[in-house]
Amino acid sequence: MKESQALRNSYSADLNFFGAQNPHDLIRDFGSPLYVYNENILRARCRDMKGLSGEAGFKVCYSTKANGNPHLLRIIREEGLIADAMSPGEVALLERAGFKKEQICYVCNNVSSEELALAYAKADHVSVDSVAQIECFGRVNPGGKIMARVNPGIGAGHSSKVVTAGKNTKFGVTPEDFGAMRVALKKYDLKLIGLNQHVGSLFMDPLPYLEAARWLLETAAEFPGLELIDFGGGFGIPYRKYKGEQRLDLADFRSRFDVLLDNFRRRHAFTGKFIIEPGRYVAAECSILLGTTLAVKNNGPVRYVGTDLGFTVLARPMIYDSFHDVEVYPALPGPRPLLRQTIVGNICETGDVLAKDRKLPELAEGDIVGILDAGAYGHSMSSNYNQRLRPAEVLIGADGGCRLVRRRDCLEDLLRVYPDQSR
Ligand code: LLP
Repeated sequence: MKESQALRNSYSADLNFFGAQNPHDLIRDFGSPLYVYNENILRARCRDMKGLSGEAGFKVCYSTKANGNPHLLRIIREEGLIADAMSPGEVALLERAGFKKEQICYVCNNVSSEELALAYAKADHVSVDSVAQIECFGRVNPGGKIMARVNPGIGAGHSSKVVTAGKNTKFGVTPEDFGAMRVALKKYDLKLIGLNQHVGSLFMDPLPYLEAARWLLETAAEFPGLELIDFGGGFGIPYRKYKGEQRLDLADFRSRFDVLLDNFRRRHAFTGKFIIEPGRYVAAECSILLGTTLAVKNNGPVRYVGTDLGFTVLARPMIYDSFHDVEVYPALPGPRPLLRQTIVGNICETGDVLAKDRKLPELAEGDIVGILDAGAYGHSMSSNYNQRLRPAEVLIGADGGCRLVRRRDCLEDLLRVYPDQSR
């Protein structure tokens, strides 16, 4: 019994994830639910990505959509990563974190001419992903430099909703449109400075990514004078840590990737930059989301553990059926039997299920649960649905101390967008 319980928080314990704090103190001090980040892990993941190529001119461009907290972005910048933004809001967060224009790449999709003008003013380069958007860019920035996102026809991802290349996606200029793309570039005297792609999110088998990278390099050879070749993100992390899921073999990836890059550089006398755009790999593992058990009940054979972790706090399980490992930090010591339990939230929808049918120590009111690998697409996808307040975020620093890096929403945050009705 003791052993099974230890198993449910051994991951965070082994890493000393919470530093000088424990989950109960954190919830007492900052409220529940709570996103807790660990600086050392974030820095280590940035370094992993920077080590993915030995090529001069290799750049890691963090994808801000995974997590846009400016306190984390600042650490990511300190580690030497540049960043991609896909909205004016993301640019604002990057600027808040100290990123300069030359460190920001704008990779957008279906945006207005006003946004393209702003992006051109604020970012080092702008990538658009259709002939129509090249035309739109040309109208507002004639004679400008532009990058185009292409569709290699090969997709990869953990869910069909995040496969972003191939036939079933809105993304990228397909080779059939390259002729029209050249015409649009010429019409507005635009200089094509780069090509980018993103085949999808979360691969653990690197082959499709490498195959797509090979395709992109072949395609790049058809467009002489490029300065940037961006292969996109998608690097996966092991979400099933308690089942012993292996990490991506980065050394193996690097050896194959560098052969491709090196051959291209030599064959085409390429002097530009090779870019990758990871979001999840950088941000996911540095966060454990804490929530509180508030009510437990049985419905037939199913034991429902009711918590404050609705899909407004972590949307991934609801949207993609994503799996996150769960740890248990009991309120009271003592042995607990292992039971099959389903952890649910406080939102008025039946789909509000965080973790289905998991074998965990018997949960009771007051116990805290920790949802692992919540740092990417966690808080950044949280919402105010049901007029719930989005949670606070705290950072465990390299010294083990802890500080608030985002306060919890308050009711005033919800109300202030509505014009006053009293007049
Ligand atoms: N570059 C572009 C153009 C992207 O669209 C994305 C992610 C990335 C880079 C970063 O991909 P990553 O390395 O994080 O896989 N909400 C989903 C993931 C959506 C990914 C969207 N695009 C999830 O929670 O799994």
